[in-house]
Amino acid sequence: MITTTSVKHLKLKSAPFSVKHFKDGELYVKVPKVKGKVVVIASLQPPAENILELLFVLDALKRQNADIHLIITYFGYTRQDRINLPGEAVSTKVIADMLKGVKITAFDVHGKLNKFLRFNNIIPVKQFLPFIPKDVVIVAPDEGAVQHAKYWQKCLNAPVVFLKKSRPSHDVSEITSIKGNVKGRNVLIVDDLISTGGTVIKAAEFLKKSGAKDIFVAATHGVFAGGALKRLEKSPIKKIFVTDSLPQRKHCLVKIVSIKGLLKNII
Ligand code: R5P
Repeated sequence: MITTTSVKHLKLKSAPFSVKHFKDGELYVKVPKVKGKVVVIASLQPPAENILELLFVLDALKRQNADIHLIITYFGYTRQDRINLPGEAVSTKVIADMLKGVKITAFDVHGKLNKFLRFNNIIPVKQFLPFIPKDVVIVAPDEGAVQHAKYWQKCLNAPVVFLKKSRPSHDVSEITSIKGNVKGRNVLIVDDLISTGGTVIKAAEFLKKSGAKDIFVAATHGVFAGGALKRLEKSPIKKIFVTDSLPQRKHCLVKIVSIKGLLKNII
């Protein structure tokens, strides 16, 4: 098995391969001699350097005619999947084009990557279940989380409440309305990822005002960009559950749920 340096934190047994930098910063990749099936596990956060490393690993393996199965625990560069304003790049398509022809399994991919690339998308929910408090109302904080919420609903057999979110600008969110009732209930906000924390913070504040009791969050990927944890500490959120699809630092607000077992099953 070959893992890339971006999933070192998962401590999986990996084949010895080297990733070095030349003095000018260029990446150098060398993989061992392989034959037949090879599993490559990577996480694309921070995106730029890790994507390059992955592309070089894939190139080195293809040169040995390896039968590659790529598993991406966190798929970066999936935010810009369409043109919203004239002149924008569709970065998701650029990355998708570079990975075409590879067998890919990915975890809870954000956005519409599937418009450009065929892959198997896995949404880990069962891994969270032992840690989730009983008797919660599930909350979808925006339209993108509706699929998640429905999946969670099946697993927990719980009611779902839907929030409407708008984004006045990049990385800024506002909750405008609620469909359903959370009065006096504990709630679980479910989403694919937490980046700035804006979505779940705004959702939690809105739910509190709507009468919710304790507020929990379950998200597959804890990106926690730019001081997100500091902002989350000040929010009404009681506990956040995220997987180790990305390296995580210990934090009293965050419970890390491992996807290592799931990875082993996939392999
Ligand atoms: C929808 O936009 C996504 O599913 C997430 O809700 C969003 O990306 C989270 O980002 P942030 O934490 O910056 O609000």
